[in-house]
Amino acid sequence: MSETDERSEAPEAYDAGPFVPDRADLDGLRRAAAGCHGCPLFRDATQTVFGAGSADARVMLVGEEPGDQEDRQGEPFVGPAGRLLTRAVDEAGIDPAQIYLTNAVKHFKFTRQERGKRRIHKAPSLREASACKPWLAAELRQVEPEVLVTLGATASRALLGSSFRVTRQRGLRMPLPESLADGATGTLVATIHPSAVLRADDADREAAFAGLVADLRVAAGALDSG
Ligand code: URA
Repeated sequence: MSETDERSEAPEAYDAGPFVPDRADLDGLRRAAAGCHGCPLFRDATQTVFGAGSADARVMLVGEEPGDQEDRQGEPFVGPAGRLLTRAVDEAGIDPAQIYLTNAVKHFKFTRQERGKRRIHKAPSLREASACKPWLAAELRQVEPEVLVTLGATASRALLGSSFRVTRQRGLRMPLPESLADGATGTLVATIHPSAVLRADDADREAAFAGLVADLRVAAGALDSG
């Protein structure tokens, strides 16, 4: 998350809270999220990319923000990072039908290359991630997953606080934070973002992928042991 961004943003309040309906199921939340103007990211993005999966899912995977493909297609994790995540989930033995996939931030943030058309992913600021948190909290209330997996620093810090370090605390079973649990007794496991595997040097990629799978196996184990 870029601190420079936060300083350069207008001092208006960023908060998705007023856009989140009190009583709505996942479909109702998805419809309401399509009109969210809780922070400025909606202005340049094509559309809101809400979570996907069943309200009965036992595992919730939380990424950072939609990428270029997700922004165009309106679905989370349909690009290269999503394909890698699908492979990792499969190797970890988690049934894809049991997964609800979402992101900490529901709009794609990007910059354009000078004179180019290519949109370059930009990490959301802490302020944008905090503004978007009411959507994640509402998804959690609807899905009540047994295990929540945060993928990478943005999702982990959005849920566990800015001092959380994925490198040090990944792959551990933790209780859901009080502020989100709402009485629920789920387990949280943090791991790296699948994009970190894609970005790894050739020599390190296999080990990075194995590490992601190992952390997902911890999540799968938490499911098994209830
Ligand atoms: N990266 C994410 O964090 N989420 C997506 O949906 C796609 C890529």
